[in-house]
Amino acid sequence: MTRALILGGTSDASQLAAEIARARIDAVYSYGGRTRVPADQPLPIRIGGFGGVSGLADYIRQEGITHVIDATHPFAAEMSRNAVQACAETGTPLMALERAAWARADVDNWIEVGDVNAAVAALPEASANVFLAIGRQHIAPFAVKPQHAYTLRFVDPPEAPLSFAADVIVSRGPFTLDGELEMMRARGITWIVARNSGGVGARAKIDAARMLGLPVIMISRPALPERQRVESVAQIMQWLGHSTRLGA
Ligand SMILES: NC(=O)c1ccc[n+]([C@@H]2O[C@H](COP(=O)([O-])OP(=O)(O)OC[C@H]3O[C@@H](n4cnc5c(N)ncnc54)[C@H](OP(=O)(O)O)[C@@H]3O)[C@@H](O)[C@H]2O)c1
Repeated sequence: MTRALILGGTSDASQLAAEIARARIDAVYSYGGRTRVPADQPLPIRIGGFGGVSGLADYIRQEGITHVIDATHPFAAEMSRNAVQACAETGTPLMALERAAWARADVDNWIEVGDVNAAVAALPEASANVFLAIGRQHIAPFAVKPQHAYTLRFVDPPEAPLSFAADVIVSRGPFTLDGELEMMRARGITWIVARNSGGVGARAKIDAARMLGLPVIMISRPALPERQRVESVAQIMQWLGHSTRLGA
């Protein structure tokens, strides 16, 4: 019998959960517990870390998980690495649902960097209006460039005061092109720092930057171990169906 574990926290994972529920496949949806009120799912939910590789391996065994789908955000690298190891350890099939990264077009003004520290270094020295479109756990390094006026956007209000001055927008999205254009114009944004998340949900700010001719410091995805991956929910459903028919 199939019993799938979805490592979630993304809109792709929510779409997959809906399909899995529709197909009446036994499955559990796992949230990391970063947002205060995670979106409801049509599947049983569990919330919070497993306790590293060994904790996840224990969970897989105890819960009789037959398939793991890593549908986490492309920058949730620790979870993805743990999933590769725990699935290897327990002999559990693993498939990543990973949207393609955005590709730079000729009209884009991107500075591509490898990590957050390189993004800080790529910001100009002269004061600028910077939209930091990155997760709140990654913003601390920007404190070394306090000359900029930062705009941040989080799903939840910050729990503790930030280590540098910034305007915080609290919103879960989705964000439209018109909305992003309006926000960037109203705040006089001159630089954007973003991660190459890929997908449509987070794309509007990149399109807005293109239309406004703004420079984007684009942080590349973290390197992950070799694993099987597909880009669509339909492919995951095929993978589950195929494996189920084979009794794997
Ligand atoms: N990174 C982002 O920008 C981003 C954006 C949108 C959504 N999210 C979602 O937010 C969650 C956390 O992201 P992150 O960047 O903090 O991850 P991370 O740095 O890769 O993970 C840190 C630890 O959080 C726990 N964890 C993460 N995702 C989990 C999940 N789906 N279920 C159970 N435990 C999980 C694991 O703890 P243990 O080692 O104890 O198991 C993991 O080792 C993920 O579900 C991700 O899809 C992240």
